[in-house]
Amino acid sequence: MKGKNVRVGVLFVCLGNICRSPLAEAAFRAEAEERGIDALVDSAGTGGWHRGDPPDPRSRAVAKRHGVDISSYRARQVADADFTRFDHIVAMDAANLRDLRRIAPAEATARLSLLLDHVAGREGQSVADPYYEADAAFGVTWAEAVAGAKGLADSIIREGR
Ligand code: 4NP
Repeated sequence: MKGKNVRVGVLFVCLGNICRSPLAEAAFRAEAEERGIDALVDSAGTGGWHRGDPPDPRSRAVAKRHGVDISSYRARQVADADFTRFDHIVAMDAANLRDLRRIAPAEATARLSLLLDHVAGREGQSVADPYYEADAAFGVTWAEAVAGAKGLADSIIREGR
């Protein structure tokens, strides 16, 4: 199903914006492109420690293995304006979602969700933080990013935003 006239903004959020959310951003960019969704896509972290950094080498490697170059991405922290600029803010885990709810400005309009809320049977689950894990964990993160991106694309096409 093509969603040619759908225009939507989606921001993916994790803690550092160097491991999980760049993969979700990359997976959703590819999905939006393939499905004809005209999307503004970005990612950010609830924390600012890695501001300006490229994605973790292990995230860059797993994306590259799947044909996507994310080396130009740079980490940034979530800002107040994101809550009105984007239609969807998609958190990787429950702590990210809680932090987003805490910092959301009064004028926020974005719909908040977890990435895995968009995957049938995995609603409410978190994408595990692979930062302190072995390289193989990044393969799991990639698979979850793709599954979440597909489910979110389905729901955007269905709901028109
Ligand atoms: P991310 O992973 O939230 O998926 O980008 C992390 C990256 C860095 C840190 C924690 C998680 N850190 O503590 O620096």
